Amino acid sequence: MKISILGCGYVGLVTGACLAEIGHEVMCTDNDLCKIQTLQQGTLPIYEPHLDEIVARNTEDGRLKFTGDMGEAVRFGDAVFICVGTPPLEDGDADLSAIDNCARLIAEESRGTKLVIEKSTVPMQTGEKLKRALAIYSRNSGYSFTVASNPEFLQEGTAVSDFLHPDRIVIGVDNKSTERQLREIYRPIIEHSLVCPIHNGNCPLDRSSRFVVTSINSAELIKHSCNSFLALKISYANLIADICENMGADVQEVVHAMGLDPRIGPDFLRAGLGFGGFCLPKDIQAFIRLGEKAGVDVSLLKNAESVNKRRIDSFLAKIRQALWVLKDKRIGILGLAFKANTDDIRFAPAMELIRKLQQERVHLQVYDPQAMEKTKPLFPAIRYCTDPYEVAEKAEALLIVTEWAEFKTLDWKRVRDLMLRPLVMDGRNLLESAKMKALGFEYHGVGKPNADGLPVGNAQRKKLRNVQLMRFGAVERYQATNRAKPSAKPVVGL
Ligand code: UGA
Repeated sequence: MKISILGCGYVGLVTGACLAEIGHEVMCTDNDLCKIQTLQQGTLPIYEPHLDEIVARNTEDGRLKFTGDMGEAVRFGDAVFICVGTPPLEDGDADLSAIDNCARLIAEESRGTKLVIEKSTVPMQTGEKLKRALAIYSRNSGYSFTVASNPEFLQEGTAVSDFLHPDRIVIGVDNKSTERQLREIYRPIIEHSLVCPIHNGNCPLDRSSRFVVTSINSAELIKHSCNSFLALKISYANLIADICENMGADVQEVVHAMGLDPRIGPDFLRAGLGFGGFCLPKDIQAFIRLGEKAGVDVSLLKNAESVNKRRIDSFLAKIRQALWVLKDKRIGILGLAFKANTDDIRFAPAMELIRKLQQERVHLQVYDPQAMEKTKPLFPAIRYCTDPYEVAEKAEALLIVTEWAEFKTLDWKRVRDLMLRPLVMDGRNLLESAKMKALGFEYHGVGKPNADGLPVGNAQRKKLRNVQLMRFGAVERYQATNRAKPSAKPVVGL
């Protein structure tokens, strides 16, 4: 089938390249002409494992094309996938102006009827609005458009594999013929007949690629419900981590046992610096707004979001507790991307952490295997190192912020000897506490008993809580509810 892709971000590029890989003729476009020129020259604007080889092969074979002429792209396809961004507005709502622009473009440029598929993450009822917009914008042309929703569940870092071996393909349609068209688009994946380019014939067989057909509203809701549930799971793990830290248990032991229950499952229970990226933080906000508009009590979602927002402050409180004064200290950061195997820094915990440490006048030296180039324009004044060992040089603390596998296998003895003080604050529980301590590190993970392997004592817990409350600006509220005498200064320890 001939397919047009509007938007060449993470979703559009992966979708376009993979649809070409399974045999379709695909033309992609974007309103960012620099991006299109980069793609036409054979360079990818993003890092995503396996995407470069798929783009290169399909471009060479003539199945995948990039054009800056958006009208040409629209006219090319029988089906048009909308893969444009839906960033958050000030109030948390999704900004749907790019979807509206696509509707106008499709209506004005089409020379025949087309299937229009929303792939972008959008609030429920957007499909209905898209249908109306297409009808209004095309009233003089006489062409009609069918709309479907086809939410994506790709994870950055494994997006190509997720696309070719999905655990489900969800389509929201309002008639059988649209369902048939979408089945045809995904047939090689549904029937497992594709020659997968990444597993060399050893594709995961456990993925049954269920094809789920729903109404358009339900399909849109499925996407937001999934991302918000993942966010809830992570915040729940982080809440348990805080309890573990204050009362003396180990969150990894707790969530491991929880995950063995098939009703709970092991995934998305990793405690740490919280969820970042361009999806979970904005989607939970948009879902909160949707729930409020629907007149539903969304405090469950709001609490998950606020647990997440406090992660960096509580990490900073621990750093401060370990280092006492931060000003003028040299601190190394390992990891800038919002998670491993991507160069994406949008809403990455590292960005907020760097901003806050800079306010404290800390000397920062950082390293990430993929995300340095994207970070440099945001923080030109920090030191970008060529490898993790340079980050360790003369540092008084090393912070692990992204869970890159290569950080796990560093020569940690060498790291220790390079540091001024062998202090590691592991925001992702990437390393093993016992091993690090045996190597002579002061090591602090997330949701672990304190440095001696003992529960934090009552007095220390109270001090810690005061420090945290001071930082969150909640002292007055705390005093009012507890009728306790205020502690004059935040308490810090060494
Ligand atoms: C997320 C969803 O997982 C995808 O299913 C969805 O398709 C995608 O959003 C989207 O809407 O496009 P992604 O943004 O790539 O995918 O990232 P995740 O793997 O979900 O991770 C999000 C954040 O949560 C990361 O910062 C990660 O470090 C953090 N995380 C994840 C945890 O802190 N703990 C965990 O146990 C898992």
